[in-house]
Amino acid sequence: MKFVTLFLIFTLFLPACSDNETSQENQAMLNPLTNKDIPKPVKLCTPCHYLVKTNQKKVGPNLWNVYDNYVTIKGLQFGKWTEETLNSWIEEPQRIKPLTKMIFPGVKDPEQRKIIIDYMKTLRDKP
Ligand code: HEC
Repeated sequence: MKFVTLFLIFTLFLPACSDNETSQENQAMLNPLTNKDIPKPVKLCTPCHYLVKTNQKKVGPNLWNVYDNYVTIKGLQFGKWTEETLNSWIEEPQRIKPLTKMIFPGVKDPEQRKIIIDYMKTLRDKP
């Protein structure tokens, strides 16, 4: 009888536990501030940049309202973040600004850069 009870406990509780685990895994993939799911290449940026409207910053400036807006960092030869300037920055920031504090090797794959830039276009107040 004891074994039957144990068996019942296991069959009833184990599936519940594993459900819990998968939802925790999914949780780790979400942006902690918005809970919005973000494309994989964009996760390269989140250790150093917030992607939401907030006054807080991480190591790097907030990336909200950056696309189609003025450059806020010093030492660049251009004034605005467009598809072209973002594309070359993300490819190799050190080529654009040799002493930049953005210690990041760059994204060499043009398709991944496009995913990142398309996502950055959505991070803005204006539609
Ligand atoms: C290791 C940390 C780090 C990572 C990873 C990183 N950045 Fe940065 N980023 C910075 C820092 C620090 C600055 C400020 C650079 C400076 O002042 O020279 C910066 C600046 C920027 C700027 C200029 C913003 C402005 O307000 O003018 C953009 C755009 C940017 N990063 C985009 C990205 C994108 C997109 C990614 C992901 C592909 C990324 N960064 C990954 C640290 C990082």
